[in-house]
Amino acid sequence: MPVNLKGRNFLTLKDFTPEEIRYMLDLAHELKTKKRLGIFNRTMENKNIVLLFEKTSTRTRCAFEVAANDEGASVTFLSNSQMGKKESLEDTAKVLGRFYDGIEFRGFKQETVELLAKHAGVPVWNGLTDLYHPTQILADFMTIEEHVHKPLNKVKLVYVGDARNNMGNSLMIGSAKMGMTFVAIAPKNLWPDEKLVAEMNEVAKETGASISFSESIDAVEGADAIYTDVWVSMGEEDQFEERIKLLTPYRVTPEMMKKTGNPECIFLHCLPAFHDLETSVGREIYEKFGITEMEVSDEVFRSTASKVFDEAENRMHTIKAVMVATIGK
Ligand code: CP
Ligand code: NVA
Repeated sequence: MPVNLKGRNFLTLKDFTPEEIRYMLDLAHELKTKKRLGIFNRTMENKNIVLLFEKTSTRTRCAFEVAANDEGASVTFLSNSQMGKKESLEDTAKVLGRFYDGIEFRGFKQETVELLAKHAGVPVWNGLTDLYHPTQILADFMTIEEHVHKPLNKVKLVYVGDARNNMGNSLMIGSAKMGMTFVAIAPKNLWPDEKLVAEMNEVAKETGASISFSESIDAVEGADAIYTDVWVSMGEEDQFEERIKLLTPYRVTPEMMKKTGNPECIFLHCLPAFHDLETSVGREIYEKFGITEMEVSDEVFRSTASKVFDEAENRMHTIKAVMVATIGK
């Protein structure tokens, strides 16, 4: 069956089959190659999209804007709308659906993006919620395909850190769908919701994926890619003290990379990352807790194993693929 994603929402990778995810990844690789060659098919000419942001962003916003521009669409960035304050989500979705061909939402609750999708009548794309970050996973898997020369179902992806945040959840879902070996290393109280794990274990039975959890960093052995994310996600800024205590043993260091036993192991991070003192938050943390780096050491971040800037670039190609697949002509 040929894949057809026209008119679909993109709220979580749970809603997509492995074939559909494969299709979006292939399209992203193709669009990246074409852009390098100066070929633009302009499949979104005369389309309009709106980007709704409740939380801050660099990559996601810019990826949507540049991708839309490459494909000929116009963009509205909206971070101060009436939504939820003077106008319900339902009414906002109905209004935006009359103006726009697609809606991106980044914010707190997954229910918000689901409600928008229910009432907008046009595709809604999840640009990150507390629960999921599905466009990020496409970029991560695309980067793995560029640097780990194995099919995804032969790849061992090890996620270290806060395994119950949007990245931990979404990497587990994506890995289950694509038949990968996924290991999350974290203190037990930061493991994902049991119901989601059970659901993904069911998916894994069909795809041949393996999902496991460990509190020990010894479980990095044999990793093709080590992935980490911030210890404190947007909206949880009161948690720094506790997370630093819990997660310091899980910082990605040169020793951890060595422990994989795989000299080819790559390092990934969705970014932004706390790896030095060049940010105001980083300096505040240093003044309070005396640490100069959090989830990843500056050495690993800047090493040749680190593919984080390819990964950041791939946000644009994969987000373009999602939009072209769902609303492109
Ligand atoms: N990785 C990511 O989503 O980055 P931004 O928060 O900058 O969009
Ligand atoms: N877990 C992070 C991801 C940022 C891209 C957050 O939600 O802040």
